Amino acid sequence: MNNNLIIPNHIGIIMDGNGRWAQEKGLARTMGHKKAVETLKDLCIYMADVGVKYCSLYAFSTENFKRDIKEVNFLMDLFITIFEKEFAFLIDKGVKVIFSGRRKPLSDKVLKAMDKIVEDTKSNKKLVLNICLNYGSHAEIIDTTKKICDMYKNGKINLDDIDEEFISKNLYNDLPPLDFVIRTSGELRLSNFMMWQASYAEFYFPKTYFPDFNSIEFDKAILEFNNRNRRFGGIK
Ligand code: FPP
Repeated sequence: MNNNLIIPNHIGIIMDGNGRWAQEKGLARTMGHKKAVETLKDLCIYMADVGVKYCSLYAFSTENFKRDIKEVNFLMDLFITIFEKEFAFLIDKGVKVIFSGRRKPLSDKVLKAMDKIVEDTKSNKKLVLNICLNYGSHAEIIDTTKKICDMYKNGKINLDDIDEEFISKNLYNDLPPLDFVIRTSGELRLSNFMMWQASYAEFYFPKTYFPDFNSIEFDKAILEFNNRNRRFGGIK
């Protein structure tokens, strides 16, 4: 990677195309998810090394529960393996894992594995990896609204306390805005991913399926980001 390039502070990745990657190779869709884990492990190290400070990953949406029950169960078991074993190496790589999403109806086993990786990596400072699991932007806005209404009802805040900063701080996690959102596989949708946080993000839609999204593809994405002219609604 060229040292003169600007590295986005917060990158969002919609990891799409696992199923198609596998199907095009005559494999079961689940094999695409397995390969995606390997890709992701390499990418985490690479992002931490090049200086990405925050990365939000769309692992499982609130809508993904509509998938075939066998695939949902496979993914839940895979998540447990990822958080218990595959991601253990992140503890020594400076990566702090956090989660965004609803805990219900995730199983106790999944929740336990999530809580453990959060606890084990809580002191890390190099890269914050925000895993969106059972996540949806609409759900996040509903949950945040309820939380804020409760604070108001209990006399903890006044209506005038509610501004952009206050809402940001009361979302699932207090994160900086997304600078760059990458959705692999050529689909051109946000699919309920971090709508509040992505309001001024640049978008990039490579055709590559996520299992093939390696560091070379990541470098191409960063180059593209550097060619964008970010105006944030102003004139430049
Ligand atoms: C979409 O591919 C991908 C997912 C539903 C996410 C699964 C992600 C992983 C297994 C990686 C592990 C991630 C973490 C952080 C725990 P798709 O099945 O929608 O592909 P398709 O569009 O080709 O069908």
